[in-house]
Amino acid sequence: MKPILLALSLTLLLVAGFAAHASQADSEAAQLYVRCKGCHGADGSKPQDGHVIQGMSVEKLEETMLGYKNGTYGGPKKAIMMSQMGRLSETQIKSLAEYVAGF
Ligand code: HEC
Repeated sequence: MKPILLALSLTLLLVAGFAAHASQADSEAAQLYVRCKGCHGADGSKPQDGHVIQGMSVEKLEETMLGYKNGTYGGPKKAIMMSQMGRLSETQIKSLAEYVAGF
């Protein structure tokens, strides 16, 4: 195989691998979000004690969710969210934040 063809097929392999990885993270987030739907709505538009998560930025979502996990953020109903976030890893919270920001 000519070096240029080899380089090209390696690049294609890399791109395909990356795409598969990205969509895997997305579907994991979608699965994690199943637990949130009841309270926040399928598209995040349902208010919870005045909070609507639809339209929040990735940074703000990650910051608030990590805050619930670490006990450094929250309003009067934070206990609900602390129990939701407590069992998630920081990586899972990050992919959830990216997923919810796409609503
Ligand atoms: C049992 C209902 C319930 C479930 C399930 C739930 N939430 Fe919440 N969520 C709330 C309530 C109530 C608040 C406001 C809590 C407070 O007083 O700080 C909130 C707040 C939030 C906030 C902060 C909003 C802001 O403006 O500060 C985010 C982000 C959030 N939830 C995301 C999620 C995600 C993602 C899930 C799923 C893993 C989830 N929630 C599951 C009820 C719920």
